[in-house]
Amino acid sequence: MDANTMTGRVKYGVIGAMTEEVEMLKKDMSITKTEELYGLTFYEGMLVGRNAVLVYSGIGKVNAAVTTSLLIDRFGCNSVIFTGVAGSLHNDIGIMDVVISEAVVQADFDLQALGYELGRLAEFDTRDISADKALVACAKKAAEKVISARNIYTGLIATSDRFVSDEELKASLSETFGALCTEMEGAAIGQTAARAGVPFVIIRTISDNASEKSAGQFDDFMGMAARHSEEIILNMLSDLQ
Ligand code: ADE
Repeated sequence: MDANTMTGRVKYGVIGAMTEEVEMLKKDMSITKTEELYGLTFYEGMLVGRNAVLVYSGIGKVNAAVTTSLLIDRFGCNSVIFTGVAGSLHNDIGIMDVVISEAVVQADFDLQALGYELGRLAEFDTRDISADKALVACAKKAAEKVISARNIYTGLIATSDRFVSDEELKASLSETFGALCTEMEGAAIGQTAARAGVPFVIIRTISDNASEKSAGQFDDFMGMAARHSEEIILNMLSDLQ
């Protein structure tokens, strides 16, 4: 048991997948220590009065897993919140809408040849890895202060080491998994946090519709999405202990 758990204090690991949102959150933070590890920069201090460690993870599952593991093991974080952008897999979910993870799945993890369902990790009992219900509820409430409730969705997020920009792959992700959006880090964070017994949530603003147009849409909406992420994180931490 670490010091935070023993004292009942929560130390939040806040991970951003975009440099923009981390830069914005950095300005909101009173930073007491900055540490470089594995080429990542960890900012430790207080964010809206909460103990937090802020870090930009870089893109993809390995980056996300390494970052999460360091937050938990080296920095003693006992709650992990991730924000970033995602491609929509559903016609009703539009650009700048927000998706919050009820669960995450590694869409490109394939042990089917050994008899496992696509996406199912051998060490887990279920294909989908559940996020923490209390963090999901808190993220939803925080997002409702930033955008209309009808533009906020909770459900499954599909993660793979691939930027999705074609209709065929998009349709297969949506049909196979029933996921609401696709991105490149969530399930790696979920897997790492779940193995460590640490609660997590993934919050995604939709930047594109995962089609042929997605690269251009992604560039256009990133800045605005980063501002939303910042506001949601600040609202969320103010509501948490
Ligand atoms: N992040 C934002 N848009 C994405 C997409 N279309 N595919 C994967 N990750 C994304």
